[in-house]
Parts: sequence; C-alpha cells; structure tokens
Amino acid sequence: MRTPATRLLLAFSFAALAIPAHAEAPADPISAETFGCIRDMTPVRGFYVDNLDGNLEATLAVANSPTGGVYPPGSVVQLVPTEVMVKREAGFSPATRDWEFFELDVSAEGSTIRARGFADVVNRFGGNCFACHVKARPEWDMICEQDHGCDPIPLTQVMTRAIQKTDPRCEPTELTTEEIEALQALQAAAGG
Ligand code: HEC
Repeated sequence: MRTPATRLLLAFSFAALAIPAHAEAPADPISAETFGCIRDMTPVRGFYVDNLDGNLEATLAVANSPTGGVYPPGSVVQLVPTEVMVKREAGFSPATRDWEFFELDVSAEGSTIRARGFADVVNRFGGNCFACHVKARPEWDMICEQDHGCDPIPLTQVMTRAIQKTDPRCEPTELTTEEIEALQALQAAAGG
C-alpha cells in the first residue's frame, strides 16, 4: 500500500536518480565542439594557448612569465592538434593540479574526444600524459616545453610546426621544404 509518505519517498528517490543524468552533461563546459583549428589559438613560442573563460590575458601572463606560475582556470594549451590540456577550476583535480588531459581525433569535420580525464589518460602511442607532465618542475605547472624537466618527445620543433600547419580542421597553408621533409621523416618513422 502506498501511503503519501511512501509516494513522497519514491518521488524523491526518482528525482535523486534523475539528477546526475540530467545535470552533469550541461554542467560540463567542455565537449568535442570546444576544440577547433589549433592555429586559431594564440601562439607562445612553440605551443598555442587559449582561455575558455575569456581570460586569455591571464593565461598569456603565465605562459610568458620567465619564472612560471599557475595557469588560471579555463586555460587551454596545445602543442599538437590531438593533445590538449585544459585547466579546470581550483580543487577540481588536485592530483593533476586541476589539469584535464584530452586525446582527440581530428579531421576536416572537426574533433572527437578519444579519451579525457586526469591521471589515467593515455595518448594513441600508449603514453600517459600525467606521468610525463608531472615531471615538469613545480614552478612550470606541468607544462613541459623542452627544458622544464620532462622526458623529451621524439618530435623536432620543425616536425611540431609541420603538424600544427597540417591540422585538418584549419584552412590549408603553405609548408616549407623543411617542413615537408619533416612530415616525410615522421611518416617513415611510423612505418608508412
Ligand atoms: C613521453 C612523455 C609525454 C607524454 C606521454 C605526453 N606528453 Fe605532452 N609533452 C611532453 C613534452 C616533453 C612536451 C614539450 C615538447 C616540446 O615543446 O618540444 C609536451 C608538450 C605538451 C603540450 C604543450 C605544453 C607543454 O607542456 O610544453 C601539451 C598541451 C601536451 N603536451 C599535452 C599532452 C597530453 C594531453 C598528453 C596525453 C594525451 C601528453 N601530452 C602526453 C611529454 C609528453
């Protein structure tokens, strides 16, 4: 028999079940559509930055600081089109200093998210983002560049520039002979 109290309890538990399913998706500000042509972001030395909260100046201040700093929430950092770090709000993921890691697939149609998360995201080569980036000295807030203490990646600066220039989400642009050769070397190294 359903007393009013039982009915209330049922309604309440259904509401409790329903909340996560309906509330989480819109509350997450980041989706595949968040990510576009890497070259539409702001270049800093060899990588690109943006800020999802419209706070690009604060992101640039840290990126350009000779002594490092803590990137503000909303910061987006990319070296290659398929790998992204996004700074979430303070306290979101203390273990990763609030960075969320993304591994994307990109094509002329746009981006899709292959993997996203915190300490457990691996790239398509099986490398754990966090395991490498955590080696950056603390003042660099997990940003590696070439000299912040991370293990190196097997890409020369010409290779990264050529990869940035051939992001399929961007308008086509001219490559230099050096960049074309770098892409050919990468293809050969990948076995095709
Ligand atoms: C083998 C270690 C390693 C792995 C694995 C790795 N990275 Fe990196 N990452 C680096 C290094 C080293 C650089 C700097 C390279 C350079 O500037 O030439 C870098 C650069 C970057 C940058 C540009 C800012 C910076 O730190 O210099 C971003 C963003 C980034 N990686 C995200 C990721 C994401 C996301 C993943 C996983 C999907 C990932 N990385 C996996 C080592 C790694």
